[in-house]
Amino acid sequence: MAATILVTGGAGYVGSHTVIELLNSGYEVVVVDNLVNACQGKDGQPEALKRVEKITGKKVKFYNVDLLKLDELDKVFSAHPISLVMHFAALKAVGESVSLPLAYYKNNVSGSIILLEVMKSHGVKKLVYSSSATVYGTPQSLPLTEDHPTGQGCTNPYGKSKYFVEEILKDLVISDKEWSVVSLRYFNPVGAHKSGHIGEDPSGIPNNLMPYISQVAVGRRPSLSVYGSDYETPDGTGVRDYIHIEDLALGHIAAAKLLLSSLSGQFKVYNLGTGRGNSVLEVIKAFEEASGRKIPYTICPRRPGDIAASYADASLANKELGWTAAKTLHDMCADTWRWQSQNPHGFSSSEH
Ligand SMILES: NC(=O)c1ccc[n+]([C@@H]2O[C@H](COP(=O)([O-])OP(=O)(O)OC[C@H]3O[C@@H](n4cnc5c(N)ncnc54)[C@H](O)[C@@H]3O)[C@@H](O)[C@H]2O)c1
Repeated sequence: MAATILVTGGAGYVGSHTVIELLNSGYEVVVVDNLVNACQGKDGQPEALKRVEKITGKKVKFYNVDLLKLDELDKVFSAHPISLVMHFAALKAVGESVSLPLAYYKNNVSGSIILLEVMKSHGVKKLVYSSSATVYGTPQSLPLTEDHPTGQGCTNPYGKSKYFVEEILKDLVISDKEWSVVSLRYFNPVGAHKSGHIGEDPSGIPNNLMPYISQVAVGRRPSLSVYGSDYETPDGTGVRDYIHIEDLALGHIAAAKLLLSSLSGQFKVYNLGTGRGNSVLEVIKAFEEASGRKIPYTICPRRPGDIAASYADASLANKELGWTAAKTLHDMCADTWRWQSQNPHGFSSSEH
């Protein structure tokens, strides 16, 4: 029988794309999401998962449950033979986390602890955790390898919550060798499923570059602000390691395979990135080429807390997971544009 995987935050951006790959790989999928950052259809089901079912022709079991509600979560574990958990659910807006630290720590840290308690009581001790390159803080050297120090330069509660949970997971594996955990440190996930049916759908003003550019391209916003053109990078604008969301999703499948086959009693960390950096101006140019639209932009002063460049050494994931990011910056822009142009208002486009 196919293994059943419980996906927290599976109605969100990274979760929904990963659910597609899980279903395509033959796993049974149970999603837990409280829809705090996901679009709910009129029937109460998350719009993203309805589209996932259309894309794959397979069913997803969905529970509208908040991780903070231990009893409700417990019932989900009682109802299904869960082999492994993929834990995406978190609040993720860096700026908001600075003004609402308690809400972020409660949701991201306490929510994770409650999940781990429930897992433990049901004897489910395999976890894939959504971490972030933000745990590295300001890079001391580039490319970033997994042994770069973490936690020291985390400047906001969101980043610290990712770091704290990694530390908790390390301690858990030390305490009980039946646990095994893979923490995946994402660089900058962008793009959308190639069908154009699901993609990133930020509420309010996008915090990230690619959704902002695509909203400018589709006419929802007049122009883009480029923060800083005097960094020590080839063209002076910030450089990041953008990774296509479908490549990222496949990294989770590789991690699940490792956990379900050989890994036990270990806490492993892998960078998920391409290993290449692209500047803001390069992304704008690539998006213009992919979309055929002009992206008006203005150069603004640097933002406090931003770093010049960040990109991964992704060779460990290649060596140990057999995973590598295959898609190009052009693919990322073309797929973002397909999603955005077909759904100018994201998942709620049908209501406009
Ligand atoms: N997208 C990125 O750029 C990025 C980068 C690095 C790491 N990550 C991490 O990846 C994970 C997924 O990110 P995403 O971009 O898909 O975010 P997202 O907001 O699209 O998805 C997160 C989902 O979790 C749900 N959720 C939040 N708190 C919950 C709770 N208490 N109970 C149940 N459900 C809850 C939300 O409703 C949402 O559907 C997060 O842990 C995030 O920190 C994301």
